[in-house]
Amino acid sequence: MQKISLEQLDMGEKLVLARPVLLGSGVKGFNSGVEVNERVARKLIELGFTEVWVRGENEPQSGVIEGCDDELTQTEKFLAIKQNIATSLADIMTEKDPEREMLRVRSMSRTNIKLEKGSLTKLDPARPPAEMKLLKQFSEAIISVSKLEQFLKDCRDLIDGPFSPLRIDKVSVNLNDNRIESSYLFNHMANCGIYFLATIARYNADLKARGAVCSDAKFGPGIDHNKRKNMLFFFSDEEIASGALGAFMHDIGYLHDGMPDILFKQGAISPEEHSILKKHVEVSMNVVQHHIFFANRPLAKHVIENHHERINKKGYPKQRGNLHVFSQILGMIDCFDSMTQDRPWRKKFSRAKVLEWMYDNSEQKAEADGSIHEPMFDRELVRCFERVLMLYENGEVVDLYHAKTATPVFRCRVKSQNPGRPDRPVVELTCCHADPARNVEGKIINLLNMPDLYMGESSDFRKEPIV
Ligand SMILES: [Fe+2]
Ligand SMILES: [Fe+2]
Repeated sequence: MQKISLEQLDMGEKLVLARPVLLGSGVKGFNSGVEVNERVARKLIELGFTEVWVRGENEPQSGVIEGCDDELTQTEKFLAIKQNIATSLADIMTEKDPEREMLRVRSMSRTNIKLEKGSLTKLDPARPPAEMKLLKQFSEAIISVSKLEQFLKDCRDLIDGPFSPLRIDKVSVNLNDNRIESSYLFNHMANCGIYFLATIARYNADLKARGAVCSDAKFGPGIDHNKRKNMLFFFSDEEIASGALGAFMHDIGYLHDGMPDILFKQGAISPEEHSILKKHVEVSMNVVQHHIFFANRPLAKHVIENHHERINKKGYPKQRGNLHVFSQILGMIDCFDSMTQDRPWRKKFSRAKVLEWMYDNSEQKAEADGSIHEPMFDRELVRCFERVLMLYENGEVVDLYHAKTATPVFRCRVKSQNPGRPDRPVVELTCCHADPARNVEGKIINLLNMPDLYMGESSDFRKEPIV
């Protein structure tokens, strides 16, 4: 299996899609196994795709892991789960136009109070009871309890399946794939929920290995989360599912109060528009906080409310610094997922580059003027995320650099992963840039044993080994 550019497709060899091509909001465009002939390639280019995963007609699927369906690679399995969740999120948020929905809610209401456009932006806990009731009706009309139950079931399936303590060591998650722009938000929210579950599973497994015990009442008002970090309490499945539910819904506010016009417009976003978008946190909270399903799930609401806060108190909207570990994880992967996707105003960054940025922002630094720059992320959590992350997929073609050289030495194809070390997979060399006459084709290298060689854009940002 390999990723190829559609523009440079060689029609000499019969190739089939190694992975289904999806057309936003869960509509399947082309099944895996479909031949990539000229007509299909042209159609894909028309749809805006630039590259696809292909394999030879008789070549078996690669990258199958223990416990996954035989025909599916680990990545395909996660992509399929994420796709189902993204489709449910799209159903929740787009099947009804918010303005029409308001009219429907108004007509449902026995009172004559109107929920005006823009009112969701105002976060006022002292709202009159009648308006609170209308908000509750509104949120329960647009977010069905059955969909939320389905999300919780999806979470439990992942917690009991690939993210269970016994299997988390083998997990490498990659949720980046080709997708058209219209479904960005739903895919982003689904991605964040799945990355959240994987990261907290890694964190929890480490706590259990260190002898932690499960304790109720770990979450409540007034808890000092910085102190709590050192207590050996692991999180219950119920707490994790509640946090993940918040992760799946964390940006729901973007769908209201005129924000979609800004979020999905082409071109740069002005500083004024940016400050409007920042209101999505309050709007998200206003949409969920009166919903019956969130009433007994304080963690779900907590992660939504705090996913843009940072431990250095430089986040928004409240510049809080004492953050529950769930909010820290969601904040961290929220950055990772949005930076690794194309947006109308910028191109995506590579997963390795964003991980490097996360490393850079999880250590204390002295500035030139002598001041101390506090980190925005906790290094231990960045490591947990890295350990469940796939940076390069099997089949991906990447250049290899020698330490401290600016030009690539070899080109290679990724063969298999070393779990926990996504920057150092096993690779097969395809050519030697430094000496083109040298025949290196087919030579297998485990990058764990070659400390002087680095993949593409991943420099030695970790600086210390992970075991
Ligand atoms: Fe957000
Ligand atoms: Fe987000």
